Amino acid sequence: MEMPTHETAIASNRDAWNDSARHHKDSPDWQALLWAVTQADFSCLDETLAGLLTQVGVDAKEVVQLGCNNGRESLSLYALGARHVVGIDQSGAFLDQARELASRSPHSPEFIEADIHRMPPQLQGRFDVALITIGVLNWMPDISEFFRHVAQTLKPGGALVVYETHPFLEMFDPEAADPYRLDSSYFRCEPFVQNEPIVYEGKVEQQAAASFWFVHTLGAIFSGAIAAGLNISHFKEYPHSNREELYNRYQQQAAQLPLCFTLVAVKR
Ligand SMILES: C[S@@+](CC[C@H](N)C(=O)[O-])C[C@H]1O[C@@H](n2cnc3c(N)ncnc32)[C@H](O)[C@@H]1O
Repeated sequence: MEMPTHETAIASNRDAWNDSARHHKDSPDWQALLWAVTQADFSCLDETLAGLLTQVGVDAKEVVQLGCNNGRESLSLYALGARHVVGIDQSGAFLDQARELASRSPHSPEFIEADIHRMPPQLQGRFDVALITIGVLNWMPDISEFFRHVAQTLKPGGALVVYETHPFLEMFDPEAADPYRLDSSYFRCEPFVQNEPIVYEGKVEQQAAASFWFVHTLGAIFSGAIAAGLNISHFKEYPHSNREELYNRYQQQAAQLPLCFTLVAVKR
């Protein structure tokens, strides 16, 4: 397959997420979420992320979540005391779900449909905290360019908080006969391509727009953040998985891989 341009990959990823949205509503999890968000103290954040956000300080702060998907994590930021939350995503279909959840919640987040590489100017220099969680970095064709746009949303002294899957995992195929066989280079340049809907559990045997998943080394992530004017003040790796259930098989091993990481970087 020919390598897509960055613009083509971003647009196709948007279409793929839109094509996938209805499958995410078709689950008991969505029904449970519809009720759960009616509670003022609703939170779906795990203890790793909630603990880090508490340490960084979200109380009374203006917070943006980039790649907010259905907004469940954006809504959870109110339980930590956020004053106002803005969620940004380029999938209109997922933002419809986010607005549906918000309409049942006592809180009033704002959801903005935009490609992170083309955000409206009113978002610049506005936030105390910017949040990126599980499964966002790998949709970005150029990680340095991405951090440049993310950094622009922060006030000087504002903090970017990242909770992501570990890039070492991209070297393994959890569905292979030997899931520990090295399957793909850590330094892989070409994206992984999928033509079915993007779902978190199992597979949906249907055609959808192609989605492009890019591998970024830890070095590229650190360098991209630093070049964007962000000082890295925290970085930690963990032995627990924060991604699809398939990856749980890599937990609790004697020779343990790092499965996810947290990073905090402060705008200069
Ligand atoms: C895996 S989801 C994030 C899920 C989130 N951590 C959660 O648990 O709800 C990734 C999101 O990033 C969004 N996304 C991907 N590329 C984007 C871009 N260039 N601009 C804005 N959003 C983007 C997708 O539309 C999708 O909703």
